[in-house]
Amino acid sequence: MKKILLVSSILFPLLLSAQTWSSDVAQIFYNKCTACHHPGGAAPFSLMTHAEVSPLAAAVYQCVNTGEMPPWPPDNNYQQYQHNRALSNTEKTTIIGWLNNGAQEGNPNQTPPPPVYTSNTFLGNGDLQVQIPTYMSKATTQDDYVCFNIPTNMTQNRIIKAVEVVPGNREIVHHCLVYLDPTSIESTDTIGGNCASPSNGSTKLITGYTPGATPMILPSTDPVKLGLDIGPGSSIYFAMHYPIGSYGLYDSTKVILHFYPVGTTNVRQISAGPLLANYNFSLPANQVSNLNAVYPPGANTIPTNFSVLSVFPHMHLTGTKIKAYAYKPGADTIKFVNIPKWDFMWQDFYFFKFMQKVPQGYKLKSEGTYDNTANNPNNPNTPPQTIYSGFNTTDEMFLTYFHFLPYQPGDETYDLEALISASLNDYPINDNSSIVAYPNPFDQQLTLSFPKSLEPNDQLYFYNASGQLEFKLEPESGTTELQLGPEQIDWNKLPNGVYYLSARLGGQLLSKKLIKF
Ligand code: HEC
Repeated sequence: MKKILLVSSILFPLLLSAQTWSSDVAQIFYNKCTACHHPGGAAPFSLMTHAEVSPLAAAVYQCVNTGEMPPWPPDNNYQQYQHNRALSNTEKTTIIGWLNNGAQEGNPNQTPPPPVYTSNTFLGNGDLQVQIPTYMSKATTQDDYVCFNIPTNMTQNRIIKAVEVVPGNREIVHHCLVYLDPTSIESTDTIGGNCASPSNGSTKLITGYTPGATPMILPSTDPVKLGLDIGPGSSIYFAMHYPIGSYGLYDSTKVILHFYPVGTTNVRQISAGPLLANYNFSLPANQVSNLNAVYPPGANTIPTNFSVLSVFPHMHLTGTKIKAYAYKPGADTIKFVNIPKWDFMWQDFYFFKFMQKVPQGYKLKSEGTYDNTANNPNNPNTPPQTIYSGFNTTDEMFLTYFHFLPYQPGDETYDLEALISASLNDYPINDNSSIVAYPNPFDQQLTLSFPKSLEPNDQLYFYNASGQLEFKLEPESGTTELQLGPEQIDWNKLPNGVYYLSARLGGQLLSKKLIKF
């Protein structure tokens, strides 16, 4: 006789403090999800509140458990990057545990005030804006890949210190690669929907935009000023990607360039280029193939020391993994990037936390794998066909771009996040909050003045510009003004840069942009 398993209802001891949205989980979402999942953000829906997250519990569980969200392809055990989006193990366990225990809200009045997102630009209006004409996406059954080459109309040479890509329509711009075409040799191509990159070697990739990306900000104060020359006759080349489902929607993405003041000296030129490139291959149908590229070619090695700022690996749809490093027999390998599961949808420049010194005598190398079989759901051809190296999305590419420059002693020791934060002082403040802060920018003493006196449950959170919580303030109720001097806050512990005060005052959310210098 078949045994019947009786599942008895075992009474687990009640967890002393079951995790709740307000006390445990909201802050993780603010740190790792809401940069994209906020109203008007790049993701299709907001995950800012318990009311928004709880109906999607099953989808969130799925994405977090598989690692699909947050999107962050590089392996953090291989190298450390700025703007790392991955969940730590503790964060992941907390989210999963909370979902398994019924995704409780907790006390809504204790929900931390959220980070603040600027709806238009992060760095302000800049010195030059270059915009594509209004374009209607043609992505019906296939993604739409189009390219625009737009003249800068510049009349003199300038040096770029920051580049911000502002998508015209955040909901449909899946990615945008921005190139500098020094001689306006490229052309606009909006026919056919398969333009993935420029066709001339002189056109250099300068930055990329994927949802949630922060602008490319180069350190621009002593001891390290970095920049990129741009001059008369140049164009900005945009390679745009609009995903299926965006048909009929309009976009007009722009790039905002910020220049050093004319006459600034000691700016070190950075170069951007696909040092590791292999254009000479074909990928036979129904096979998994491996490719590699080395720099310099043949028996040559790197002739002088150089410093590497970032890495951008690039493949198309059949790529499955890619790795790039520098090596020298008998010496340590210098690791740049390892993407164990390539995702064409999430490509980016990964900026290192510290510049990577590549000494003379080394060689750079990349290794990639392509799955051109019917098992690969991203294979553009059914049945599989031989795929050749080429610029169309359905062709393949094997490139690794770098931002790099000649090495100077000390390069590998600079904390780039701190230097970039300090460089943010050069950018203007724009906000119209009812919280008054003075002086702003501030140094060691900050005064905050509120529209009404503080109540016992009010919350004041101090976020940095990328939405990470720095500290909370616990003011006495009844006050309308807070003096934050060195006795209250150890300001020296905070790098200079842009911060947001996010407050819940009498149940109402208010925020204020602050700059520390
Ligand atoms: C860098 C931007 C970004 C971040 C950070 C991010 N998401 Fe997403 N998310 C997206 C985009 C864009 C989509 C739409 C689907 C797509 O294009 O892949 C999405 C889709 C989703 C979906 C729907 C998935 C599906 O299969 O339809 C869920 C659920 C989700 N995200 C949860 C999260 C959670 C939870 C976090 C944080 C732990 C997070 N996301 C962080 C950009 C982001």
